[in-house]
Amino acid sequence: KLSNKTVELGDEAKKGARVKVYGRIHRLRVQKHATFITLKDGYGFLQCVLAAGPLTKTYDALTFAQETAIVVYGEMKKLPAGTNAPDSRELHVDYYKVIGAAPSDAEAITNKVSKDQDAWEAQMLDARHLVLRGENASAVMKLRQYVELAFIDTYREMEITKVSPPAMVQTQVEGGSTLFKYDYYGEEAYLTQSSQLYLETAIQSMGDVYCIEKSFRAEKSLTRRHLSEYTHIEGELDFITFDDLLSHIEELICSVVDKVLANPTAAGYIKLLNPGFEKPSRPFMRMKYGDAIEWLGKQDPPILNEEGNLHVFGDDIAEAAERKMTDQIGRPILLTHFPTEIKAFYMQKDPSDPRVTESVDVLMPGVGEIVGGSMRMWDHTELIEAYKKNDIPHEPYFWYTDARKYGTSPHGGYGLGLERFLAWMAGQHSVRTCCMYPRFMGRCKP
Ligand code: 4AD
Ligand code: MG
Repeated sequence: KLSNKTVELGDEAKKGARVKVYGRIHRLRVQKHATFITLKDGYGFLQCVLAAGPLTKTYDALTFAQETAIVVYGEMKKLPAGTNAPDSRELHVDYYKVIGAAPSDAEAITNKVSKDQDAWEAQMLDARHLVLRGENASAVMKLRQYVELAFIDTYREMEITKVSPPAMVQTQVEGGSTLFKYDYYGEEAYLTQSSQLYLETAIQSMGDVYCIEKSFRAEKSLTRRHLSEYTHIEGELDFITFDDLLSHIEELICSVVDKVLANPTAAGYIKLLNPGFEKPSRPFMRMKYGDAIEWLGKQDPPILNEEGNLHVFGDDIAEAAERKMTDQIGRPILLTHFPTEIKAFYMQKDPSDPRVTESVDVLMPGVGEIVGGSMRMWDHTELIEAYKKNDIPHEPYFWYTDARKYGTSPHGGYGLGLERFLAWMAGQHSVRTCCMYPRFMGRCKP
């Protein structure tokens, strides 16, 4: 079915299937004997043929353009398999009416080519509302929905409860430098960087929980994987070990991939966008941060840090190095045990080596980090120390600290960037094409 708005007019058995279809012109080919229209309606594509003659000589037909909204009537014909027509069918149009005309420049705008990559990208983003009408851009958006549904289904199967924490907050989670600050009735407040702290206050009464909410980061650099506003899928699990956390994350990712691929429509979008996609094999590779530092130095040539030196213990593995490593290894990596110094204040230290934390990043080929997670510091005294060490005033966190006072427990969780996950599955170069209207430094429109 092309559309839920398709109305069958004829009695199929007697007169053949005469149908009425609403849509927009996706592609137009005017030939001597006929005009071919590929119609789109957001549900599918349909080849329509208008025989040259009275139908093609009207003012409307002469001014058909990509994006013209139209209703067509005619007889649906089955075509032999192997033709280019979508779903091997063709509508032989005997009547049509233009509903909304379009100027003839849509194609020129959305297919504009430019030698200057940055200028071209800016043009495409200015025209994002028209770009979204294209087959690939809309396929990414539709796939996004199937991915989100696969997460929701998986969590339901795992009996993990969905909660909805606030986006307007007065506490930071991932460092002060990326906070979006604003005036909240005269008080300083922020757009949330992560719902983690709130999830940590829900597990005591709701059991394991997750949320799918927007997170906001004032990222002052332009990269292909950083947005100012992104969709954050976060989970928090109670009474677990670090190993339980790693297994859960692996299980979650694999279940989502399985569900997406098992859905024929979603699998069709993957085939269109990323034909080489293969579901990752389990178990994922597990690598400690310390071993990754060594691995980077052992490559020929060695993969260097941002200052151009060999990585030493305590260095951040920056985006470029991380990507090189992931692409070279070519499969998902659970990178664990990052140094305490470079990680967030709330992370639990490894009991066998307090220089490092029980933390994990999931790295995917082509994208790099798609998940960040950890066990949480659950001892009250240790947490108070951690605020001090990180110069974080503890007062605004009273409710978070209280979780360590009223029946504390070993627990942990993670956050996954939906746009990064989608960039991986849909083979997108940048997270910017994985949201409807990307937000990043310098862009807050359309
Ligand atoms: O590694 P991050 O900063 O971890 C947290 O926020 C934890 N508090 C989550 C938790 O444990 N509940 O972010 C988690 C993930 C990253 O791995 C990445 O996929 C995504 O969020 N992410 C971004 N995606 C797009 N643009 C940005 N600026 C992002 N920052 C993080
Ligand atoms: Mg991270």
